[in-house]
Amino acid sequence: MSRDPIIAIDGPAGAGKSTVARHLAQHFGLLYLETGAMYRAFALKAILSDHDFDDSVALERLARDTEIRLEADRAGNRVYLDGEDVTERVRDSDVTQGASRVSVHPAIRKWLVDLQRNLGSKGGVVMEGRDIGTVVFPDADVKVFLDASPEARSQRRYEQNAQNAAVAAGAGAPPSNSDHASISQELRERDRRDRNRANSPLRPAPDAIVIDSTSLGLDEVLTRIEDLVRPLFFTEKAAK
Ligand code: DC
Repeated sequence: MSRDPIIAIDGPAGAGKSTVARHLAQHFGLLYLETGAMYRAFALKAILSDHDFDDSVALERLARDTEIRLEADRAGNRVYLDGEDVTERVRDSDVTQGASRVSVHPAIRKWLVDLQRNLGSKGGVVMEGRDIGTVVFPDADVKVFLDASPEARSQRRYEQNAQNAAVAAGAGAPPSNSDHASISQELRERDRRDRNRANSPLRPAPDAIVIDSTSLGLDEVLTRIEDLVRPLFFTEKAAK
């Protein structure tokens, strides 16, 4: 092997990719890279500069004037848009929907895929996204497609959001049921767009291991993937 290992974790929103990818990176001492944050940062740029998500020509021009940078830290990734830390802002719902919409444009994908290949070229990474195993690194050493039922995924997103909101507000008030309904609706819309776009649609690579986590706990999912990754290393970092 001429480079260090590359682990690709792909799948739909809410399947648990980030949690799994972060744990794996920590366990094996690899760099964790969350490619969705790059599409999110560009969507934010489009919002801030009042661009239409569907105008591919204008967005391509905007991309030439945009700098996106990912930095790995202990908690995950920090994302910088034109030098400004936008890590928290890119989690908002307008950016989430926008990311799915700007990501259909081939020129935007090519730009960000090139950046991602550059970041991962030396290996030693767990890269998470939608097209890592199919397009970004088709020669990745381990490819996992993590899936779960739409109901399980929206439930997890709802719980995650409630937890984040409680931390932010310093109180335990969960979002209302209508939040639950809108999360579920947003997720379905994003699923449809991510799976049906002409360029690099979300689908498992032919050689990906598909794991359905609907009724699996995090530990079970991690054990399965660690078993796939372990043979690539002679020694592992001890901590999990
Ligand atoms: O993983 P995420 O939810 O942060 O991704 C946000 C959007 O970005 C997702 O709906 C589709 C797009 N995306 C993509 O097209 N390709 C990737 N490798 C990662 C994300």
